[in-house]
Amino acid sequence: MTEINFLLNGKETVVDVEPIRPLAHILRDDLGFTGTKIGCDAGDCGACTVSLNGQSVCSCLTPIAQAKGSEIITVEGLSHNNSLNDLQEAFHLFGAAQCGICTPGMLMAASDLLKHNDDPSEEEIYDALGGVLCRCTGYRKIVEAIMHIGDTTDANIEVPAVGEAVGSRAAKVDGRQKIDGTELYGADQAPADALWLRAVRSPYWRATFTLGDFSPLKTKYSGLVDILTAEDVTGINGFGIYPEIKDQPVLAEGFVRYRGEAVIALIGDAETIAAIRDDEIPISWQAEEPVQGFGPPVAEKAAQLHDNYPGNILAKGTTLKGDTAKGFTESTVVFEESFVTGFVEHGYIEPEAGWAQRVGDRIEVTVTTQSPYMDRDEVAIIMGLEPEDVRIIPTACGGGFGGKLDQTVQPLVALAAWKLNRPVRCTFNRIESMAATTKRHPSQITARYGCTDWGKLQAYEFNGDFNTGAYVSWGLTVKDRVPIHATGPYFVPNVSAKSRAFFANEPPAGAFRGFGVPQAAIAHDSLMDQMAERTGIDPLEFRYINAIRKGQETATGQKLESAGLDQCLDALRGDWKAWRAEAENYNASHTIKRRGVGIGCMWYGCGNTSIANPSTMHLGLGADGNVTLYSGAQDIGQGTNTTMMQAAADGLGIQLNQLNLVWGDTDLTADAGKSSASRQAYVSGNAVKMAGEDLRGQILRLANVGKNASIKFRPGKLIVQEQDTLSEIDLSTLPIAENGEVLRGEGYFDPPTEPLNENGQGKPYGTYGFAAQIADVEVDMELGTVKVLRIAAAHDVGQSLNPQQVEGQIHGGVAQGLGFALMEEYIPGRTENLHDYLIPTIGDIPEIKTHIIEDPEPTGPWGAKGIGEPALCATAPAIFGGIYQATGVRVKQAPCTPDRLRAAILYNDA
Ligand code: FES
Ligand code: FES
Repeated sequence: MTEINFLLNGKETVVDVEPIRPLAHILRDDLGFTGTKIGCDAGDCGACTVSLNGQSVCSCLTPIAQAKGSEIITVEGLSHNNSLNDLQEAFHLFGAAQCGICTPGMLMAASDLLKHNDDPSEEEIYDALGGVLCRCTGYRKIVEAIMHIGDTTDANIEVPAVGEAVGSRAAKVDGRQKIDGTELYGADQAPADALWLRAVRSPYWRATFTLGDFSPLKTKYSGLVDILTAEDVTGINGFGIYPEIKDQPVLAEGFVRYRGEAVIALIGDAETIAAIRDDEIPISWQAEEPVQGFGPPVAEKAAQLHDNYPGNILAKGTTLKGDTAKGFTESTVVFEESFVTGFVEHGYIEPEAGWAQRVGDRIEVTVTTQSPYMDRDEVAIIMGLEPEDVRIIPTACGGGFGGKLDQTVQPLVALAAWKLNRPVRCTFNRIESMAATTKRHPSQITARYGCTDWGKLQAYEFNGDFNTGAYVSWGLTVKDRVPIHATGPYFVPNVSAKSRAFFANEPPAGAFRGFGVPQAAIAHDSLMDQMAERTGIDPLEFRYINAIRKGQETATGQKLESAGLDQCLDALRGDWKAWRAEAENYNASHTIKRRGVGIGCMWYGCGNTSIANPSTMHLGLGADGNVTLYSGAQDIGQGTNTTMMQAAADGLGIQLNQLNLVWGDTDLTADAGKSSASRQAYVSGNAVKMAGEDLRGQILRLANVGKNASIKFRPGKLIVQEQDTLSEIDLSTLPIAENGEVLRGEGYFDPPTEPLNENGQGKPYGTYGFAAQIADVEVDMELGTVKVLRIAAAHDVGQSLNPQQVEGQIHGGVAQGLGFALMEEYIPGRTENLHDYLIPTIGDIPEIKTHIIEDPEPTGPWGAKGIGEPALCATAPAIFGGIYQATGVRVKQAPCTPDRLRAAILYNDA
């Protein structure tokens, strides 16, 4: 141990520590400065960036000895007297923080830049922030914020008046704590006496194993308090998102189905459980030949993963409409193609983390999550408790994108805390996070589209295989959602769309922004381009001719009440023509670097497929006159806390900034369902609106006035005005509930869906979002590299609850779509870190022009539909269309990496 002194945010600080420990760990674990985040602990993500003697450094790579006598500034040191500085204020007002986990690193890197350059160009910002990864924002609003320091009027942030919150650019209600370093995420909190837990995971893709005698290990390591095995699971040793399928063990029982599967869990002090090597642990392995990829798992006599799924087939999905044989006969233009996509990693910057404690006969789990109520029910089943005996307290969530829906740390820390009656915490390291958790489904698709000479679609046939990995996770959802969406957002009279989800000895594939729709979009829009070319119709106009419109029926026979694709295409037409012409002109005089502009379209059903997925919301009026929204809709960075508050404010008729918010805690909020499937704006937005209207109705009835009366909320009283008549309600005269409330409004909404029949006919979703995007790309013909120069994105969201949040979702979705198209491929066992697995950096993201189209959904709150997933789905097809115009190569495999594209340019086959 060595005594090391330094100036930390202006204060003399001394620590007595091992000199090689990383600065990030000292700041967080020893000094409580948790504003500095750890996303990778390996120098790849930049979340841990701090200022050391005026220079930005990755504090996870900086030994504390290097800090001796230095001056350190962390994000907590940027604010003065609890006021954000100008940079932070700009971040807040421009919506530069979504989940906020990267924000401290971004702010520190930007502060460093601004010290030397108070008026940086975009290029200079890219250079300075190039080492800090953000998975949510698409970086555009970060750049805007830095370029507008001190003059934030362009952010157009509004403080909405009563009745005008919905549709306003209100700033995030929880934005400031994401910017000043005080927001607490999964790894930022736990009692000081909490034990640490580390799962020991399978090094084999497929193996049987036996556990030996643990006593020598316990004797050797006095800091090892306990070892959990499958025998310690007090309820059912299985989890899974469907109520009837709990196939994934919390801790494996004698057999593992993928590398990274949890086998046992070590519990003890942090140093001890980190020090124990896996090869010291008495586990005897017998490896077996795994079945992997697309062919082997479904081959005859392939080794089975699960006894109850013969042939390794999880399930098949079907959508049949009309007569495809007849449709193809009537088609004069027919194209057929096959497409392949790989595993994609969510790459949220916050790894899975949380802690649990036993409170009497209840267990409380504080965790980063997308689905508090699903966590509650899963933990209850695993522990053999009633759901009411489990409390989930969500932390701020540092990105999810579908990857924080399944169970990760929750059951492990809950079982350990219950058994030991001590708080237990766990944080996955980056490698563990990437190896153990779900991915986007790899796909292999063959599709055939037919149209007439004049470009009218006649028939579509689709067959898609989706690798769901070792366990079911969201495989059933993907196999259903894909055939429903397979045609793309077009009216097609004859459809045969079939999907198959199969098991393999690979990581479980689960939910990831789109549930299979992004993979299907690559297929349908490539074929749309080919038919457009053959018929001599412009690709945008070809889509316009065929865009499904209000009143038309989808492939499942659902009549649409809202469908704004044609309006999206109208919005893009001007740029499309101009950009295409510019690319053609450019190509006329360039051979090595060539340009191209492509278009992609998508649609997306908001909410779960053909099953109930309700949301319940409450709005409470306290005797003190305070109004509180109790929202169980988890904010994973998409801004749900803010949009729900906006909906509550207008539903009730109160000013937004007069409302309080309690979110997430399952003891305090009702079940709003999962933050997934682009459902919260539509489903929970409705529930909040209804809760506001319910509370408002109760107040108006108390005052005995009509529905147009206004209400003013004052300390301890309400003032109700109807025309010239004022009345006052003294809240202390009303019966007061235990929680201090005098009135409570409730809203409940379940989207109007119907089950699908055996041909996939029915009404799977309450509504659909639509989008079209165009991408201008530059291809280096000799290197095969693709640079996306600009993107324009038009999205029909029904009604934008908050345009700034919608823009943020579009930017972030485009960035993830760009990664999916050009660089992201998770290769199990090989790309388990953010060094080898590439996600877009600030320099990869071009200018993104957004068009918000509002074709109102009659069943939506104020007409609103979802945006989270639609934002991503059209980007890859648009980029691939651009690559075609530039090179003449039709891309058939995602990602289109430089080696693949270069080979395709040489051999004309991607
Ligand atoms: S945590 Fe230091 S670079 Fe990722
Ligand atoms: S806001 Fe950047 S990672 Fe979430």
